Amino acid sequence: MADQVDLSVSLGRGLRLRSPVMVASGTFGYGFDAHGADRTALGAIVTKGTTPGAREGNAPTRIAETPSAMLNAIGLQNPGVDHVVRVYAPKWATWDVPVIVNVAGDAVDDYVAVARRLDGVAGIAGLELNISCPNVANGLQFGVDPRMAAQLTAGVRAVTRLPLLVKLTPNVTDIVAVGRAVEDAGADGVSAINTYLGMAIDVRRRRPVLSRGSGGLSGPAIKPLALHAVWELAAALRIPVVGVGGITTAADALEFLLAGAAAVQLGTVNYVRPQAVREIHDGIAAYIAAHDLRHLGALPIRQARVEAHV
Ligand SMILES: Cc1cc2nc3c(=O)[nH]c(=O)nc-3n(C[C@H](O)[C@H](O)[C@H](O)COP(=O)(O)O)c2cc1C
Repeated sequence: MADQVDLSVSLGRGLRLRSPVMVASGTFGYGFDAHGADRTALGAIVTKGTTPGAREGNAPTRIAETPSAMLNAIGLQNPGVDHVVRVYAPKWATWDVPVIVNVAGDAVDDYVAVARRLDGVAGIAGLELNISCPNVANGLQFGVDPRMAAQLTAGVRAVTRLPLLVKLTPNVTDIVAVGRAVEDAGADGVSAINTYLGMAIDVRRRRPVLSRGSGGLSGPAIKPLALHAVWELAAALRIPVVGVGGITTAADALEFLLAGAAAVQLGTVNYVRPQAVREIHDGIAAYIAAHDLRHLGALPIRQARVEAHV
């Protein structure tokens, strides 16, 4: 029964996924060494953030564990867009799962250069703009200012026909304002959210655990926060919202889909239980079948919005 359920979703501009379960940028590399994750259960793979030139990232320590979460300050370690086009894309072109390249940079020109290079390349199904990386100089600016986020989105939109997701940062006062700005500037969808800024201090050594001091917090601890951002965005935007943040079970993923997400991305859980990809896919299918819903579009809670009073 559950295997007959239609789990396909559309993220706009012809990007149709067979499953709403994607893997999040930075937690699945470029898709080549994902041991234990069942690619057949995936709707799409989102790659590590890719910049014009290769980058080594930050010095160690780059990762730390905190209760129900992890901190990272990897700093955009990646081989650069040329390598992606020459070496990875030809392999992706033979896969049956679409690969979306996450794009990053320090300036609008960086994003535009990467997008231009990737446009029309076989094996690349779409772009996700990381306007929210907290770990590079100036990286946060685009994502916190609606005007700059729109400018960046429009600049990229002008040089590519690829489906364009814009990944939002939660480290803002009004995430909906940024979402609206990138929607108006030509984004086909938004991914919400990237990591929350956080830190941990080594009490014995009396210094921050991460070499950069602060980093991005991800994992189960952030799920209620991410869910709220998705709920707000889904109510306000016309374009699809891809939910990401702390998802580890099918029930978590369903919460995001009920909140109005068109699809979900799994991040930190890939490090802990790579088999979650298959479990979450099957759990969503079983839920849809058990509730006689037939397709995912019937899931979002649209009526009876209850305003939060905090
Ligand atoms: C080690 C690590 C590296 C990441 N690198 C990127 C990146 O390059 N670009 C990006 O947009 N998000 C990056 N992220 C953020 C994730 O894609 C995701 O938005 C975030 O971790 C929240 O989801 P989660 O709680 O399921 O992990 C990274 C996350 C982690 C843990």
